[in-house]
Amino acid sequence: MSLNIPADFVEKYNTAGPRYTSYPTVPAWKQAFGDAEYREALAELAQKPGDELAIYLHLPFCAKHCFYCGCNALVTREKNAVTEYLDRVEKELAMVTALIGTNRRVVQFHWGGGTPNYLSETEVNRALAMFRGAFDLAPDAEVSLEIDPRIATPEQVAFLRSAGFNRISLGVQDFEETVQVAIGRRQGRERTLNVYQGCRDAGFPGVNVDLVYGLPGQTRESFTHTLGEIIGLQPDRVACFSYAHVPWVRPLQNKVDTTHMLGGYDKFALFQLTVDLFKDADYTWIGIDHFAKKGDELSVALENRALHRNFMGYATKPAPHMLAFGMSGIGDVCDRFVQNDAELEPWGAAIDAGRLPIVKGHKLNDDDRMRRLVILNVMCNLELPWKLTEAAFGAPADRLLAGELAALPPLVADGLVTADDFGLHITDKGRYFVRNVAMIFDAYLAGAGDKPLFSRTV
Ligand SMILES: C[S@@+](CC[C@H](N)C(=O)[O-])C[C@H]1O[C@@H](n2cnc3c(N)ncnc32)[C@H](O)[C@@H]1O
Ligand code: SF4
Repeated sequence: MSLNIPADFVEKYNTAGPRYTSYPTVPAWKQAFGDAEYREALAELAQKPGDELAIYLHLPFCAKHCFYCGCNALVTREKNAVTEYLDRVEKELAMVTALIGTNRRVVQFHWGGGTPNYLSETEVNRALAMFRGAFDLAPDAEVSLEIDPRIATPEQVAFLRSAGFNRISLGVQDFEETVQVAIGRRQGRERTLNVYQGCRDAGFPGVNVDLVYGLPGQTRESFTHTLGEIIGLQPDRVACFSYAHVPWVRPLQNKVDTTHMLGGYDKFALFQLTVDLFKDADYTWIGIDHFAKKGDELSVALENRALHRNFMGYATKPAPHMLAFGMSGIGDVCDRFVQNDAELEPWGAAIDAGRLPIVKGHKLNDDDRMRRLVILNVMCNLELPWKLTEAAFGAPADRLLAGELAALPPLVADGLVTADDFGLHITDKGRYFVRNVAMIFDAYLAGAGDKPLFSRTV
């Protein structure tokens, strides 16, 4: 049963705020950061040979650009584009392994995009071989990729499974044609269903589906229909992202027909509907926008309060470091965040010149590390045990964050959190506003001004 949350309450908390895939969040990275700083981090990593790694590979190419897309995607007619891209990744990889060695253990390896299944079988094999040669992929590592069903076939997904991927995410967004037309992404239902079945037939242990709510043309009725179809398929996990309409960052979104786009409370109600339908279908609501079948590792991790979050999303196999390859990739190495150039040409030019293509970064201080622990625990495990910070930071969180906790009483009065001797607990109502709770512990938000750096929390 839906919680009755009035429209004015939703509006009160519908502010611009981060999604906290990291803390500090990208807009707060103000330090000058480049090749030298990343080399320093990698040299430190070399001194910790036992630490496991997660790896992200960004593959930006897409067959066609969808108007609504917020990802870092490229459409090209260049025949050699992928080969040239992989040549650069290979060089990037060689620069990194020259500093950390080639025998590091990897527990999570993810290909994101763009559209990783834009690559041919030969290109997929080449990329996999490059990384397998450079790292020691653990036998139980999660090896995952995102695919666009519009260019996939059951044969292709069977190949991807045999090549070693064990988790696959299908971009669906919405089954309704009117919505697909408005967002510039026509996607035949039959093809999507065929590819989904192909993933099952190929024996993928994990099959995920991506949906987006708040897209133009979506109504309560139409989205109920899409959600019903998805639940009927029984994917292991579903991500239902809030549509981020940010045309000042992604100008192609100006082509999205926003005439019938729900916002504010109506958009919130779509998400509430999503939560209700997945809960009724026995899925666990994970973090802000994911749903996992009961028994799925993410659900078990939430029950055990052992869920983690990184740039790739929610994770059950936390590695202390994440290396990112490819344009726009974001890494997290020895308490430094590093971001590669998001543009193809300068990213490639830096690599050709023998420089690691880092353009942005942030070295965390002790205060950042403490707040990161607190914020990510709130975002993932929906609580803040006071003792969480004791071992690493020498005092309980209610002492370290006494000033911030002064902002708590209104959130308690509004029923978003409760506090007791153990710590803070996010309530059922507070789950919808967990970003607002996390934001009180963010030391950088005060300086963020009124720039539209973040999407809205609802
Ligand atoms: C890299 S794409 C997935 C793979 C493939 N390129 C595709 O579109 O099917 C990652 C996902 O991000 C989500 N996404 C893209 N643009 C978005 C936006 N503007 N707001 C919210 N979610 C978005 C979609 O759910 C999409 O499936
Ligand atoms: S939604 Fe997927 S296929 Fe469409 S442009 Fe973005 S990354 Fe490419």
